[in-house]
Amino acid sequence: MPVSIVVGLQWGDEGKGKMVDHLAETAVAVARFSGGANAGHTVEADGKRFALHLLPSGLVRKDVIGMIGSACVMDPVTILEEIRSLEGNGISIEGRLMISGKVNLTHPAYRCLEVQSEADLASGKIGTTGRGIGPTYVRKYRRNAIRLEDVFNMQSFIELVDFHTLEAINTLNLSSTDVEKLHSDVQSFIEATKEVSRFTADVSLQISEVLRDRDALVIAEGAQGSLLDPDHGSYPFVTCGQCVAGAACTSLGFGPTMVTDVIGILKAYTTRVGAGPFPTELDNHIGTQIRKAGNEFGTTTGRPRRCGWLDGVLAGYSARINGCTSITLTLLDVLSGFDELKICTGYEGDHFTTGRSMDKLIPVYEILPGWQEDIRGETDWDNLPSAAKDYVLAVEKIAGVPVTSISTGPGRNDVIWR
Ligand code: IMP
Ligand code: MG
Repeated sequence: MPVSIVVGLQWGDEGKGKMVDHLAETAVAVARFSGGANAGHTVEADGKRFALHLLPSGLVRKDVIGMIGSACVMDPVTILEEIRSLEGNGISIEGRLMISGKVNLTHPAYRCLEVQSEADLASGKIGTTGRGIGPTYVRKYRRNAIRLEDVFNMQSFIELVDFHTLEAINTLNLSSTDVEKLHSDVQSFIEATKEVSRFTADVSLQISEVLRDRDALVIAEGAQGSLLDPDHGSYPFVTCGQCVAGAACTSLGFGPTMVTDVIGILKAYTTRVGAGPFPTELDNHIGTQIRKAGNEFGTTTGRPRRCGWLDGVLAGYSARINGCTSITLTLLDVLSGFDELKICTGYEGDHFTTGRSMDKLIPVYEILPGWQEDIRGETDWDNLPSAAKDYVLAVEKIAGVPVTSISTGPGRNDVIWR
């Protein structure tokens, strides 16, 4: 009855999608437990590249069940587009997608409200993905959000939808054209919700049935990264869905006793999209070199990602708050071709916080020799240049958790198991 939880240890985009797809080879189900279409999980398989947002990455494998847990938020229009895009690539999800009826829906007005709330922040803009994620979670905790299961009582569903439409119209200064567009988007929202409602399921019950088979593996797939978590991340520059391993249990409705592994995905360097502190950021030609080599542009928004050295202190912090049993180090191939590499091993004055004064942290670095060899697609530890091996060992030491696998390329099987 093992559940493996996969989480990101940085600010997202660590390569969770690729690793979840790789690990799903032996899984019965992959269950996404947080976030919404703000995520961008890239999977490359059979010569095709899939950019998934809310659908669990495991669905790319035709025999895996995909589940979406109650703590996720869903835009019914965009998830239908995602489903159609997979089906257009010959991957049918019929009969193997289960969405919790408790997921909260992103009403079309929430995107407009999000634009407004960002504009209202004179300074300290978050730089959201603009997918209406924040307003959806705010309404969940305000206790009048629209859940997927509400569509099964059409009259009260329409009343609830209308309430949110009117509230936005009364709050925002919309032109008559905007109001017209909103009404038409609301119609599409209602139609899409009806269509997607056929996937509604009791995810907790389904997982418990899968886990009755003692050998069945369920992968709980996190979104974003631990440093974007609203409790443990770089608050207030965070997302609204919980990103840490503990959230898998609450969202999917199983207890901590079911979990056997927590796999932390750590990129061999650091990236961040959106605003907020980033102690090891390289706002120079080295950062540009990493961005180019790693193709570091957002999957969801296309924004160039901010790039920097690996922060070993943050890696250790994230490994602790998630209880990681192992780390997968990803995108190691991107670091080929540097004369030297740096890893942050502490901060000046030994001060550490992920709170509002995180931007004051000044990193202290360990310098390691680089390597020139191209290691893309390598699958054998013994073939790595010794400088690359030393880099992995340094990461393991500072993070305090074994690096059991290394991703060396975007392909499904570009993985070294140690
Ligand atoms: P939101 O999730 O759209 O509210 O955005 C809040 C912050 O989280 C912004 O800095 C986003 O750039 C960041 N963010 C949200 N989702 C992702 C992701 O999947 N990868 C990287 N950053 C993300
Ligand atoms: Mg991403």
